[in-house]
Amino acid sequence: MDFKTEKLLHGGDYNPEQWLNRPDILEKDIEMLKEAGCNVVSLGIFSWSTLEPEEGFYQTEWLENIVNNLYENGIYTILATPTGARPKWMADKYPEVLRVDENRRRMLFGFRHNHCYTSPVYREKTAKINGLLSQRLGKHPGVILWHVSNEYGGECHCPLCQKAFRNWLREKYGTIENLNDKWCTTFWSHTYQSFDQIESPSSIGETQLHALNLDWKRFVTHQTADFLHHEIQAIREGGSTLPTTANLMYYYDGLDYFRLAKEIDVVSWDTYPTWHKEAVMETAYDNGMCHDLMRSLKNKPFFQMESCPGSTNWQGVSKLKKPGVLFSQSMQAIAHGGEGALYFQIRQSRGASEKFHGAVIDHYGGKDTRVFKEVAKTGQALAQISELAGSRVVSKVAILFDWSSRWAMEDSQGPRNKGLHYMEVLRKVYRGFRKKGLNVDLIDMECNLSGYEILAIPMGYMFKEGFAEKVRAFVEKGGTLITTYWSGIADDTDRCYLGGTPYGLMDVLGIRSEEIDGLYDWEENQMVPVKDNELGLSKTYTCKYLCDLVKVQTARTLMTYGSDFYKGYPCLTVNEYGEGKAWYVACDGEKEFYEDFIGRALDDSHIAGAVKEEIPEGLEITTRETDSIRYYIYQNFGESPVMPPLPDGEIQCIFGSASEPLPSFGFLLLKSFK
Ligand code: GLA
Ligand code: ZN
Repeated sequence: MDFKTEKLLHGGDYNPEQWLNRPDILEKDIEMLKEAGCNVVSLGIFSWSTLEPEEGFYQTEWLENIVNNLYENGIYTILATPTGARPKWMADKYPEVLRVDENRRRMLFGFRHNHCYTSPVYREKTAKINGLLSQRLGKHPGVILWHVSNEYGGECHCPLCQKAFRNWLREKYGTIENLNDKWCTTFWSHTYQSFDQIESPSSIGETQLHALNLDWKRFVTHQTADFLHHEIQAIREGGSTLPTTANLMYYYDGLDYFRLAKEIDVVSWDTYPTWHKEAVMETAYDNGMCHDLMRSLKNKPFFQMESCPGSTNWQGVSKLKKPGVLFSQSMQAIAHGGEGALYFQIRQSRGASEKFHGAVIDHYGGKDTRVFKEVAKTGQALAQISELAGSRVVSKVAILFDWSSRWAMEDSQGPRNKGLHYMEVLRKVYRGFRKKGLNVDLIDMECNLSGYEILAIPMGYMFKEGFAEKVRAFVEKGGTLITTYWSGIADDTDRCYLGGTPYGLMDVLGIRSEEIDGLYDWEENQMVPVKDNELGLSKTYTCKYLCDLVKVQTARTLMTYGSDFYKGYPCLTVNEYGEGKAWYVACDGEKEFYEDFIGRALDDSHIAGAVKEEIPEGLEITTRETDSIRYYIYQNFGESPVMPPLPDGEIQCIFGSASEPLPSFGFLLLKSFK
């Protein structure tokens, strides 16, 4: 791992600046942290007004004392830069630091995460405070990592940002003629004569040029990454060489995390699943998939920076975590390749908006609470499995998840403005692989495909330049491809491909997509198996939302539609190409379809999961490895105990018992030598 501890991290956001007048509480915190098995806290995230109460007047002694005290008590610090929320004096004196919304309205002081990332003043103030923190604490033996800002997000449409956007476009397109061509601006007479005329998208202005919307989103990512870079540069100038992280948010739509991750050393993320909204297992798959995405961003270990030990205060209903959920959620981060599980927050705030947000230490303040006890139990378990630190998740499967493609697809009008259900399709495909006990990476179009045996492209709307060639080479060399309807439709600036789709893959797939039917919410079609099909599929499945009508060229048909005028048209096909195989799913099948189909397609390609036996419902199996060891991690997210199917060969048990049923919310760690 990049940071200097061989332990799995356990701890959370800690806000002692809210308690500086209560030394008794600060002392109690240390005792409670130790009791809870915490070895790290993230500090100073929203401390700017305490660190710089007046412009240029800095006070960092309190922070230095806290870091010292934590360190003396065996607790490391992840030190934050405070830019997630700025002091009032700054907003008053320099209004340019305040964001302007898409309707060109400047915001007042308030909230957080609302700075203009272009403002020279904000950048200057950031550089000063980050540099100072770096000088004073950036070499402290107790500090292991920088937590840069907090949950970067949102956008600013101020004149400074407009200018930066135009410069970014100028750099990208060179001439306005080129931009007009790539953006298809002759449509509705939107042609520009110069870069200076371009404005960011706005609901009171331009929203119909999809390439403008797309480039704006890319610019927002670029400018945020540039601001992040600036923050890190200031840390380096202050003398600290410690690694950096930024805490990311779920499948956040506003920033391309593959780009942002390039600036930092370690990815971390904040996870707040609604565990009891649907079947716990479905939430576990979704949370697990996001862990896999976070790991894949840098193809490196990551960690869980935040999660709620109790109930949050911002979800519609503040649902308590049932016994075992907190433990399982933390352990799942480790199972998927994480190096630690942290919480938001250590001590519950007394006032303001998060006073009812769950915390390790609540307002009552004792150790004899249900939540505190489960946190302590998790701390003990993490210590017991600490040998996992530094081991890696290796995946044979990659699923494409590309921000530009998602942005362009979801922004387009048609073929179904009432929802394309992209994320659901992604989850269904993911679930199909996980059901077989396979690790999965989520990759973007720039990622390297070598090392993967199977590549899934669910609704890969955009094919950037060179991507189809990469996929062709992958299949040619023996890879298995699974792709679906609404793939290879548009290029990098959202211009539709001419000459047939899926662009560049028609011969690989042996089909051409001709038309696509949008279904009403209440409509359904069926996927009917062709008799004696090569996967032995025998059930009829329902499909919804989108049905692609394909012309078969060299492909073989395994399933056909059951109704409408396209009854009998193919909806699942396969084609051999080079040494590999390419599957095409033409419609949005139900999750059982993906489970059965992917399971059989994997067998067909001789791609084996972690264990040979079938994995019982509710059980998740993930593997981590070192050069000589393979770890098998089992978690039961089901309601009843299940017998864990074991891997072949000799195994050692590190946590739990391999010979007994694994209880609901149980965790089992096995190890074998390669
Ligand atoms: C986010 C923030 C935290 C806190 C939590 C509450 O993840 O980063 O500061 O507000 O939400 O759930
Ligand atoms: Zn701005």
